[in-house]
Amino acid sequence: MVRKINIEEIKRKDEFLNAPPITKEEAKKALEHCIKQVEANIPYFGNRFPWSATKQLQYPIIDNVEWTDGFWTGMLWLSYEYTGDEKFRKQAENNIDSFLHRVENQIELDHHDLGFLYSLSCVSGYKLTGSEKAKRAAILAADKLLTRWQEKGQFLQAWGPFNSPEHYRFIIDCMLNIPLLYWASEVTGDKHYAEIAQKHFETSCKYVIRDDASAFHTFYMNPETGEPDHGATRQGFSDDSSWARGQAWGIYGIPLNIKYTHQTEYADLFRAMTNYFLNRLPEDYVCYWDLIFTDKDNQSRDSSAAAIAVCGMLEMKKHADIKDAEVYDGATARIMRSLIENYTCDEIKAGAPILYHGVYSYHSGKGVDEGNIWGDYYYMEALTRYIKEWNPYW
Ligand code: GLY
Repeated sequence: MVRKINIEEIKRKDEFLNAPPITKEEAKKALEHCIKQVEANIPYFGNRFPWSATKQLQYPIIDNVEWTDGFWTGMLWLSYEYTGDEKFRKQAENNIDSFLHRVENQIELDHHDLGFLYSLSCVSGYKLTGSEKAKRAAILAADKLLTRWQEKGQFLQAWGPFNSPEHYRFIIDCMLNIPLLYWASEVTGDKHYAEIAQKHFETSCKYVIRDDASAFHTFYMNPETGEPDHGATRQGFSDDSSWARGQAWGIYGIPLNIKYTHQTEYADLFRAMTNYFLNRLPEDYVCYWDLIFTDKDNQSRDSSAAAIAVCGMLEMKKHADIKDAEVYDGATARIMRSLIENYTCDEIKAGAPILYHGVYSYHSGKGVDEGNIWGDYYYMEALTRYIKEWNPYW
């Protein structure tokens, strides 16, 4: 049984219903601009990778060691899908070599972000080209993700040494890591991956979403008993506020899980989380980095959270007929138009981001009011969804 939580009425319903839709032409123009930036970044990154966020609006270049390295490869695949141009495929395939090397040599993989890394780089590569190397890398990554499973508490441990009591927690972001496990079940025929994914999803839905439909960022379980302990934040404003990107991970994670499990009874949780998010958008429809802030607070936006939430709303339409579906269509149009018009830059410059005004981690001062590579990725994914019936890499 899915628990019942509060579903707010959408306050700006009429504004959303009156939104002019994003046309295919508009989306194509915006995506073509993104692809020019990707093109400029290929020689700039070479066979290495952008760091997670820009510094003074320029991506530092790193080795394949971060949780965010899959997004760049995902952008190459999206560019290849749209243009058919081999240069994008070639670079994406070079990156697959790097991802295979990373998983075979267990480089910086003692965490749960295997899905962000391998769904976008290797599952995508396998789906688009049939690459056996990509498939092997992605299955190895799924195996690695399974090693984070905590039977006591039924969750995948996010970070830190396995079993350490101070790290006995999962986080809402992981909803985007578990599609890798569902995919692994499909291609191997081994149900175990999907069973773990589904159990983790159910644990998340029980505890990390509050009764008012806002989300904790992280949730601790009791390592002795496996019972729920308490919610806390790492990247949000406070333990009891709702970090915008965490809310967006939920909005996108729920439909991706429904895609694989067909558990449409979770659609109400999606509605509850989405309505909470939409009701806290500022005037220009692009959320602040924590939903606690309003236009009076002089805080940075997190454009990446906006793009993630749009992808979630567009994905949900494919899996269930839900109340207010037209309102969500209008909301995605309002958010996307705002991103297209005010959160991108006309100039193409090697090393520059595509989507501006994101926040990576406010408390640690990382990527505050900067571009970040997942913002670029989800913005391109959202635009792609307006252009064609897109088969997700997730
Ligand atoms: N998954 C980490 C983040 O969203 O920053």
